[in-house]
Amino acid sequence: MPKLAVLYSRQEIEARVRELAAQITRDFHPEPVVLLGVLKGACIFLSDLARNLELDCSFDFLAVSSYGNSTRSSGEVRLMKDVDCSMEDRNVILVEDILDTGLTLAYLKKLLLAHQPRAFKIVTLLDKPSRRVQPIQADYVGFTIPDHFVVGYGMDHGEQYRNLRDICILSTTE
Ligand code: IMP
Ligand code: MG
Repeated sequence: MPKLAVLYSRQEIEARVRELAAQITRDFHPEPVVLLGVLKGACIFLSDLARNLELDCSFDFLAVSSYGNSTRSSGEVRLMKDVDCSMEDRNVILVEDILDTGLTLAYLKKLLLAHQPRAFKIVTLLDKPSRRVQPIQADYVGFTIPDHFVVGYGMDHGEQYRNLRDICILSTTE
């Protein structure tokens, strides 16, 4: 049976998201930004982050192949949905739920830099540096965590648990 244990409460997440938004606001003000969310896990983080930014802000979304029902990466990244708008000469902030092996963000960074954005930054709510395969870092990190599989606040396991308000560690018997 899967077991859930709270890692970060909704109050801790809210406070940290506010701090990240304040930092991004300071760094970009008075310029506008594009928040580019990686579907689907980053959706809730992106919407809370956006509401705390004091900047002109637009949204776009990308989708990449997911882990499916496994808690381990297949190591293969495939683009399932590209951006809708041109990123050329825009301040692009790629919004990710969790930076794990780095394969996804390394792939997306390369793809997006080819658009020649004016600025390109990565914000991730969670960072698991111990699992990194690709040497990539985020510019803004919510929380650095050990190697746990987490769900909630947008993150899933087999499409379940995305709507949990807290970030929880999922222990499975698989
Ligand atoms: P990476 O390519 O290994 O860095 O994987 C990043 C993606 O894997 C994230 O965007 C998540 O969607 C997913 N992922 C990695 N670790 C977890 C986790 O602990 N819980 C849920 N999804 C995860
Ligand atoms: Mg993701």
